[in-house]
Formats: sequence, structure tokens, C-alpha cells
Amino acid sequence: GDVFTFDPGFTSTASCESTITFIDGDKGELLYRGYPIDQLASQSNYIEVCYLLLYGELPDKAQYDEFSYRITRHTMVHEQMHNFFRGFRRDAHPMATMVGVVGAMSAFYHDSTDVTDEWQREVAAIRMIAKMPTIAAMAYKYSIGQPFVYPRNDLDYASNFLNMCFSVPAEPYKIEPALARAMDRIFTLHADHEQNASTSTVRLAGSSGANPFACIAAGIACLWGPAHGGANQAALEMLRTIGTVDKIPEYVARAKDKNDPFRLMGFGHRVYKNFDPRAKVMKESADEVLDLLGIHNNETLKVAKELERIALEDEYFIEKKLYPNVDFYSGIILEAMGFPTAMFTPIFALSRTVGWIAQWKEMIGDKNQKIGRPRQLYVGEAARDYVDIAKR
Ligand code: CMC
Repeated sequence: GDVFTFDPGFTSTASCESTITFIDGDKGELLYRGYPIDQLASQSNYIEVCYLLLYGELPDKAQYDEFSYRITRHTMVHEQMHNFFRGFRRDAHPMATMVGVVGAMSAFYHDSTDVTDEWQREVAAIRMIAKMPTIAAMAYKYSIGQPFVYPRNDLDYASNFLNMCFSVPAEPYKIEPALARAMDRIFTLHADHEQNASTSTVRLAGSSGANPFACIAAGIACLWGPAHGGANQAALEMLRTIGTVDKIPEYVARAKDKNDPFRLMGFGHRVYKNFDPRAKVMKESADEVLDLLGIHNNETLKVAKELERIALEDEYFIEKKLYPNVDFYSGIILEAMGFPTAMFTPIFALSRTVGWIAQWKEMIGDKNQKIGRPRQLYVGEAARDYVDIAKR
């Protein structure tokens, strides 16, 4: 019969060729279309990065303006969507709401179902990047019982998101440009990460030719898990539980104990075995944002830094090459900005949407594209005869 390679968790199987993102896990290098992540995080902005990921090159001024205009023009969601949100319990996790609402978009955009039409693919990409902040902000507003805030086309992408989350009719939100910049940097750092679990999910769902909005909903579902995007919420909750610096050794000991399921959240990565370049930028950004907000002696940040120091000197973590990942410091910034922990993973989801859609577009346009269909090693019963229920 056929011979298969057995590779649980796909640790050594390439599922596609891609020109989008490159990671060198030993060097701690991350490139979007060849450009280093730290240069993009400090010198570019998220909209430019979206263009780069989607089309392969940095835009010139005219291309940038046109792309930015198109994204801005698509930020509203169908008014009927409001009813969809209202069907959820107020205490639903915003990720649950997003899985449902984004999946429902496939019913609003039937035209996108023709994935063989390049123009339709293009419009679907623009719509998703434009609407995801609106959807994430609506999920948040709904969960705290405040009215939805419509997008504003005079604001940049990050400012608009902050405004939709934090302004109320009685009092407009004062947008601090440096905070909007930090928000934008968080979006950029999460924009793509090659064939991670949620991206592979989107590709696999899309490989059957399914509606792209439904595929992105599948990606959101996968991202939610604590081993993936859900780690940003879990990491901050862990830091809060540890609480004070003197409790750290107890938790480090638990993380090392094979009989204890506890892991240091925001630590470790399948590919990075030296450091996560995103975590480096995020750590600097955390210092900047807390400074900006006049938050000194933040206990959570203190615990995070000390935990990192202790873990990086510990043989267990050295030997297993475990380092802080992107999720370790992001929560501290988001919390300082005023986001509750439940919004951390939705923010990851909205940032990653461009990566998902760029990878989906690449796959659909690939001449070698086939439906994803893993094989298995069957280890169950051999063929046997059915036995009547009375005789079992
Ligand atoms: N704390 C303690 N031990 C750990 C940790 C951790 N955070 N991560 C891995 N290990 C140990 C693990 O127990 C295993 O030990 P052994 O070889 O003795 O069985 C070894 O290190 C290798 O771990 P693995 O689970 O086989 O590695 P993986 O590549 O399958 O998993 C991971 C990668 C990110 C899922 C894992 O490191 C983890 O669960 N980390 C915590 C969750 C987290 O922070 N996830 C975010 C990932 S970054 C991007 C994103 O958000 O998606």
C-alpha cells in the first residue's frame, strides 16, 4: 500500500511553498517579504505592512494612499450585523462572538463565494482587513453593555480602533497619538507568522474552495486556544496570579515539574529556539507605553521582567530553549491601554487577519493548489463481522 511519513503536529512537513514570511528560528529572525520585523515595527505602519503582505512590495505614495482609502471606505459592517451581536449573551467571550459574527459574514458576502474570480478575492481581502477592527470593537462594547461606536473615516486604522473601543456618546475618547502608534505596532508585530496553526487552518479550510469569510472564522477559532493566540490572555492572568516577585520561584518550579500541567504562558515556541524578535520589540514598547501613561512601579511588569530573568538563567529553560514569545509582554501594554484581558486575543485576531488573507490568496492563486487531505496511520481494529446487539 501507500507509504506515509508520520509527523504528528507537522514538526517537519512543509505543506506549501510561500513567498510571504520567513522565520529563522535559530537566529531569531522574522521577515515579511524580506523586510526585518524590527525595521517594519519601528519605521513602517500597519496599513503599509498590510499592503506589503498582500502584494509583495512596499507601496509608493500613490499606491499607499489608494490602498488606505479603500480600507477606510470598507470599515462599516452591515447594519443587520447588530442583530447578530445581540443574539449572544453579554458575558460571551469576545472570541466566541467573533467566530460567530465573522462566520456570518459569509452570508452577507455571497459574491465572495466565487473564489475563482480574482476581483472577488481582492474585495474580500479589503473587506476583511477593514471590518475586523469594527467587529472586535463591537464584541467588546456588547460585552460591557455600551452602545456600538461607528468607525470614523478621518482616523487612522489604530486610532479608529481605539476610538471604537473607548469612546462613549457622552464623552469622546481623547486619542493619544503615541498610544495609537503603540497599538499600530502591536498590529504589525502580529500581522503574519507563516504556517502557524491558525494560518494552516485557514489554508486547509480554503483548500476546498470555501467562502473566505467562513475560512477566516475557522482561523479565529484555532487562534483562540491558549497554546496559540489565547496565550496573551493566559500570560497576563498568570502574571497576575503570581502577583509578587517573591512568588516566582514557586511557579518556575511548577513549570519544570513533569507531573504538573502548568506551563509558563508566553514562553516557548515551535520555531524560535534562540529568541522571539517580536518579544524584544514588545518589551521595549511596554516600557515606553507605561512611561507615557505615567504608570511607574507596575507590579505586573516587574513580575514579568523578573520571571524572564530567572527563567533564562534556569537550566530547564536553557536546555529546552524556551524564551519569552510575542504574547509575554503584549498583555502588559494592552492592559495599560485599558483593555480587559478578554480583548487580548481578539486584538491578535484582527492583526493576524491580513496574514490569513494573504496566505489564503497565495494558496488560491497557486497552480499546485490541491485540497488539503492528510493521511493517517490506522492503528484500530482489523476487519471483523457485525454482531447482533442481543449477542454482545
Ligand atoms: N513552560 C514550561 N515548559 C515548557 C513550555 C512552557 N511554556 N513550553 C514548552 N515546554 C517544555 C515541554 O514540556 C516539553 O518538555 P519535554 O520535552 O520534557 O516533554 C518541551 O518544552 C517542548 O515543548 P513542546 O510542547 O513539545 O513544544 P511545541 O513546539 O509542541 O510547543 C508551544 C510550543 C508554544 C505550544 C509551547 O511552548 C507552549 O505551550 N507554550 C506556552 C503557550 C504559549 O505561550 N503559546 C504562544 C506561542 S507564541 C505565538 C502564538 O501566540 O501563537
